[in-house]
Parts: sequence; structure tokens; C-alpha cells
Amino acid sequence: MLIIFANQKGGTGKSTLALLYAAYLNTYYKSRVCVLDMDGQHSLSQKAQKDGPVQDTLSYHLLPADLQDLEVARENLKEGEYDYVLVDLSSGRPNQELVAVYDTADAVVCPYHADELTLNGTLVFLKVFTNINDRAALFFVPNKVRRNASEHTQKAVKSMLEKYGAVSSPLPDRPDFQRLNTQAGSVKAMELVRAAFDEIHQGCLQHLHQISPK
Ligand SMILES: Nc1ncnc2c1ncn2[C@@H]1O[C@H](COP(=O)(O)OP(=O)(O)OP(=O)(O)O)[C@@H](O)[C@H]1O
Ligand SMILES: [Mg+2]
Repeated sequence: MLIIFANQKGGTGKSTLALLYAAYLNTYYKSRVCVLDMDGQHSLSQKAQKDGPVQDTLSYHLLPADLQDLEVARENLKEGEYDYVLVDLSSGRPNQELVAVYDTADAVVCPYHADELTLNGTLVFLKVFTNINDRAALFFVPNKVRRNASEHTQKAVKSMLEKYGAVSSPLPDRPDFQRLNTQAGSVKAMELVRAAFDEIHQGCLQHLHQISPK
């Protein structure tokens, strides 16, 4: 399955969640995962270089990638070399490359913030994405949710996004997410994402079953 982490709005948590989801799939399901870093600045791969090789206990590939690499990863996925390819995308307006990646996705994880300015970027992304790809399963993740966040706003945004896909349990605003290490994962952050990721994982399995029933 090819899952993209996308939102036109920057800084919503795409790279952070892509990395944590790779660790989650690998830790709990022993899945073979490849993370393609297609964020223009290759921030994840640069961080990985600093952090050093991934530990034996945590095993996934993390590669800086372009469209050609994505094709190769798709082939590897078909041939069973990987169970999941996760693509970390850049924010900003969709260019030709982004459109091609949108087209190939089986599922989308879209982290968002429930404030008006950020939400506009998310809605623009949705409009563009659903025009290109109407087959993918969409999962929205309310991220960096503060303790004092307005419940009313959270609910209103949730019901708006539920027209397009599933909205996961919220992720709190915590420094544990900023201490992520590509080498060893983060036990605390993994605990914080567990409920949301379980929901996304179940949703992905259901979607896979629908698109290729056995
Ligand atoms: N739940 C959270 N709590 C606190 N900080 C978070 C949380 N999620 C992400 N962050 C922090 O927010 C910042 C932006 O996250 P990240 O780089 O993952 O976003 P992004 O969507 O990939 O950004 P870009 O659009 O620039 O690629 C990072 O410093 C990250 O550590
Ligand atoms: Mg990023």
C-alpha cells in the first residue's frame, strides 16, 4: 500500500507523522516499510544522516526520492519487497511532481490544525487532491491540539472533514514530538500516536480489502 503524508499547509506534522507511522508499522506489525522523502528540502533524510543508521530493533528504509524513485518503490511494493511505501511530501502549491504523486496514492494521511488560516490550506489541498484521485482513502489527523483548544471549533472542523474521509483521534501538542530520532524512534511519542494510528491502520486494511477483495 502506498500512503502519502500531505497537506498544502506547511508545518502541520507530515514529516513527523510519516516517521512515526513507519516505526509504528514496523514495531507492531513487523511490516517492511520504505519512507520516501519527497519533501523538497529532504529534511528527513538529512536528519537521518545526522542520527546515524536505524537500530536493529527498528527497521525501515528512508530515502531521499524523486518521481523515478517512486516508480521503483511502487514496483518493489508490487513484488512484495515492501508492505508499505510512505511518502513524505512538501507543502505548498501542487506542481507537476505533486500531482503525479497524488495520482498514485492508495491512501492519504493529512495532519491538520483546526484554526481558520491553516484550514484553508487543507481545504485547497482536498479540492485539488480529490480532483486528481478519487480512489484513495483519506485520513485526517488533528495535530498539535492544545489543552485549551476550543471544543466547538474542533467539532465543527471534524464534521466538515468527515465529508471527505475519516478523522482520527487528536494528537496533543507535546515536546516529545520534537525529540524524534530517525534512528531509535521515541517511546513516548509512539504512546501518544497509538490510538490515532490504530484507527488509520484499521481503515487502511478495510480500504485494501475493498479495492482487492479476496
Ligand atoms: N503533536 C506535536 N506536538 C508538538 N510539536 C509537534 C507535533 N507534531 C509536530 N510537531 C513539530 O512541529 C514542527 C513541524 O512538524 P513537521 O516538520 O513534521 O511538519 P511538516 O508538515 O512536515 O512541515 P513542512 O511543511 O515544513 O514539511 C516540527 O518542529 C515538529 O517537531
Ligand atoms: Mg515536512
